Amino acid sequence: MEFHSFKTFEEMSAAAAGAIAKILRARPECILGLATGSSPVGTYDELARMHREEGLSFARCTTVNLDEYLGLPGTHPESYRFFMEKHLFSRVDIRRERTFVPDGTAADPAAECAAYDARLERLGGTDLQLLGIGPDGHIGFNEPDDVFTPQTHVVDLAPSTIEANSRFFESEADVPRKALTMGMRGILLSRRILLVASGPAKRKRIDEAFSGPVTPRLPASILQLHRDVTVLWSED
Ligand code: GLP
Repeated sequence: MEFHSFKTFEEMSAAAAGAIAKILRARPECILGLATGSSPVGTYDELARMHREEGLSFARCTTVNLDEYLGLPGTHPESYRFFMEKHLFSRVDIRRERTFVPDGTAADPAAECAAYDARLERLGGTDLQLLGIGPDGHIGFNEPDDVFTPQTHVVDLAPSTIEANSRFFESEADVPRKALTMGMRGILLSRRILLVASGPAKRKRIDEAFSGPVTPRLPASILQLHRDVTVLWSED
């Protein structure tokens, strides 16, 4: 694992965007694994700037997101589809039909998960997977558990995740209790992993995840098994 520490969120975000832009320029038809949460927002701002000012194009790439709240349509302001539209898709030249986010309103969520995995396998995994890390060490929405789940699946969100994510909703009661998330196989299939995180609490989780045992109790620890992980961390 390669670890880079930055003073500011802006510097970290510029480094993350730079790594993504490098792949996009070398292979315009690349497959990007994308994430939500506050950590990648600066990365998307910088990518949008590079599109505007430097002609960075997303026209030929495909994106696959990690997760979505169960029950939220893409028009809901807190859905992850909406998040991606707002922070990246609407600001660049990406083709919407090449953007994949699990459908939180699928009539049969299990079938939606299976179809999501089938697509990911067809694509051969992503070239780069952008990740954040939850306060409990989750990646995507893979919460601490007794086992690692390889497939895309429906999860019960941990109480600490519901509490942490309630800052985006009117009240904690409005936070969906379940989500669809890419499983560990989908994440590990990526050729390269780029994890972005900020602040002392996340730093502690990262240290535990990469220096302690590989355990489903700390989901991010599975990244120890991947051969190309870069962690970008900022102090603020
Ligand atoms: C959510 C997302 C995760 C993300 C995590 C951390 O729960 N499902 O993919 O990594 O939040 O978010 P933040 O970066 O806002 O701390």
